[in-house]
Amino acid sequence: MAATPLSGHGLLQGKTGIIFGALNPQSLAWTIAEAVHREGGRFVLTNAPVAQRLGEVDALSEKTGAPLIWADATSTDDLDRLFAEATAHFGGGIDFIVHSIGMGMNVRKNRPYEDLNPDWFLKTLDISAASLHRTITQGLKVGALNDGGSIVTLSFIGAQRTFSKYSEMGDAKALLESIVRSYGYRLAKRGIRINSVSQSPTRTSAGSGIRGFDLLYTFAETMAPLGNADSDSCADYVVSLLSDYTRMVTMQNLFHDGGFSTMGVTDELLELLGEGLLKGQDSSALQELFGDKK
Ligand code: NAI
Repeated sequence: MAATPLSGHGLLQGKTGIIFGALNPQSLAWTIAEAVHREGGRFVLTNAPVAQRLGEVDALSEKTGAPLIWADATSTDDLDRLFAEATAHFGGGIDFIVHSIGMGMNVRKNRPYEDLNPDWFLKTLDISAASLHRTITQGLKVGALNDGGSIVTLSFIGAQRTFSKYSEMGDAKALLESIVRSYGYRLAKRGIRINSVSQSPTRTSAGSGIRGFDLLYTFAETMAPLGNADSDSCADYVVSLLSDYTRMVTMQNLFHDGGFSTMGVTDELLELLGEGLLKGQDSSALQELFGDKK
């Protein structure tokens, strides 16, 4: 796979924004913030107040020169304060938003899909999906969003297909992607674009909260012709979406997954399945497919 660009190309020079969701160096938003910084974009970092004691965001703030403003993305008051402080900092409106927020309350607590705690389920939808709607709504209300801007949120293919252990998060991502389409139409009147990036399984705090994540990661890695997309490549893709080079792209769910979403099955996966399923049995089916290799 091609390496990360070492130096930037100034793709985001002159642009200002807000990046939600950097918690630790594994966070997708952390890598995105570093890439945006590399490309000359200026931004404010934000995360939920509870993340203050869990995260290491101060180090990222120092490294990128980005102020850190704590705000719960499910709180209208917090979002209003965030926009007020961000626009005061930049002396004007913002050009981009990166929404990289997710939390599956039932998933965290191992409650199966058939027995979701309804309050936690609503909280999951609020944090992981409705927070995007709320953020845009408040940004528009207080006049903080510049014309011609770009908004990117992070999704997963569990929005379209059932992944057994992804549980309520599949519903949250489906709602998130629907908000991208619904708001996309309205934002376009101001030339503001909005897209979701449907990312490969990636080893982060949110990712590893999913039961069986390592197996899911290996499954996707085995199915994707290019392998799983890592955080660095995700960050570069998000940079392109924040830049003017993608100015006519909006209301899309864009798969960033090494080709996973288009594959049916790969030889590698068939071999693995065959080895497991046909263990100790007649393996002529595998021999037929792979000949002397078996
Ligand atoms: P992460 O755990 O580093 O990021 C999730 C962030 O959401 C954290 O920074 C957390 O503090 C923040 N957050 C939670 N509740 C919040 C609230 N009420 N207000 C503001 N922020 C809040 O994990 P990751 O993986 O970087 O997740 C980022 C996004 O990427 C999520 O939407 C996730 O679903 C998505 N994604 C992750 C994949 C993975 O395998 N890691 C794959 C595809 C999508």
